[in-house]
Amino acid sequence: MYFNRTVKTLKISKLHTKISNDQIYNELVYEILNHPKVQEMHEYLHHADNTVFTHSLHVSYVSYRISKMFHLDYLASARGGLLHDFFLYDWHEGKPEKGFHAHLHPKIALRNANEYFLLSDLEIDIIAKHMWPVTIKPPKHAESMLISFVDKYCAVSEAYQSYTKRVKQKVKASFS
Ligand SMILES: [Fe+2]
Ligand SMILES: [Fe+2]
Repeated sequence: MYFNRTVKTLKISKLHTKISNDQIYNELVYEILNHPKVQEMHEYLHHADNTVFTHSLHVSYVSYRISKMFHLDYLASARGGLLHDFFLYDWHEGKPEKGFHAHLHPKIALRNANEYFLLSDLEIDIIAKHMWPVTIKPPKHAESMLISFVDKYCAVSEAYQSYTKRVKQKVKASFS
């Protein structure tokens, strides 16, 4: 259902195939993934040409898989990962409140997530602390620490993929 939109934006096609084939993951996050407010994350660009939705799905799924591997709370990792950047504005163009986006957006994401979903304490910690160490308070749980690292890995990976894509396009154009 949601993949009709996701396919267009998710650059990591191998990951996309894994996600679409993972029935357990899809069942766990169905409520969040198909919520109209969460779908709004398609509207906002995040890292390079990746949308906030694509990035959040990426963080959610990678965190879910690692959590399963290490017998952590994979449901909280999947849900918290999807909602960690649920801030619903284009941070390249401005922000709704005063302050640095890096400090501000976990609070806004948590406020939005609390408004639309019933969150566990662990999911709250995941969303609130995902920017650590940029934000001062460290994560309280292994899952929150994991998502904080996966978030940074995904951001770099998404930016790198967009950069290499642009370089390839330029090289191709220079030979045509
Ligand atoms: Fe974030
Ligand atoms: Fe993020």
